[in-house]
Amino acid sequence: MLNLVLFGPPGAGKGTQAIYLARTFNLVHLSTGDLLRQEIAAQTDLGRIANEIISKGELVPDSIVISMIESKLKKPKTTVGFIFDGFPRTVPQAKALDDLLRKHHSKVSVMLCLEVEKEELIGRLFKRGLTSGRCDDADAATIENRINVYNEKTAPIISYYESQGKYHPIHGIGAVDEIAARLSDAVEEL
Ligand code: AP5
Repeated sequence: MLNLVLFGPPGAGKGTQAIYLARTFNLVHLSTGDLLRQEIAAQTDLGRIANEIISKGELVPDSIVISMIESKLKKPKTTVGFIFDGFPRTVPQAKALDDLLRKHHSKVSVMLCLEVEKEELIGRLFKRGLTSGRCDDADAATIENRINVYNEKTAPIISYYESQGKYHPIHGIGAVDEIAARLSDAVEEL
């Protein structure tokens, strides 16, 4: 199986590029952000909890997102693999993903890390916030906090995958199709 972790700070282009990669390599796209937003839209209890946390730019507890991914992996799929977008976001989540995939006799193939400077991230998120209605794009302080949370709690995952020889940085600035080609080339080289 081909299991890609698509990694990077908020606004790096994970969601945009995951769609291309999923289509190119026939993978199932799993985004914990999208799953949480579905819960918020459905006004479930989980959605109410998630909305409060997401609107502050903080992380939803590991136990919640891990069980969301677990339930998705349990469903029988005729797929050649998965693309994980926005998950894992902490070292415990990365370890849990390894455990879950091991149960399915599989493993993470590579971690593709989109590298984009902070000013570009803020510009992209602020621009999207003008029309998206996403609570976490709503103001400069929340966007700033999301980037700080990424640096503090999520970026340490890079060392986790680097130590396994799976970390692969990708330049994340340029036209969407150029970045898609860089990512596809990296996967082809695997
Ligand atoms: P999530 O939905 O994962 O949001 P995020 O990581 O903040 O990522 P974004 O969706 O903002 O950015 P992206 O990198 O996907 O870029 P995109 O393609 O959208 O998570 C939201 C929240 O849910 C988290 O903050 C957290 O609270 C919670 N959560 C989710 N997963 C969790 C987990 N595992 N653990 C705990 N909590 C979790 O692009 C961004 C914008 O840039 C778009 O407008 C796009 O059109 C534009 N763009 C894309 N590419 C380019 C380009 N090349 N040039 C110019 N603009 C571009």
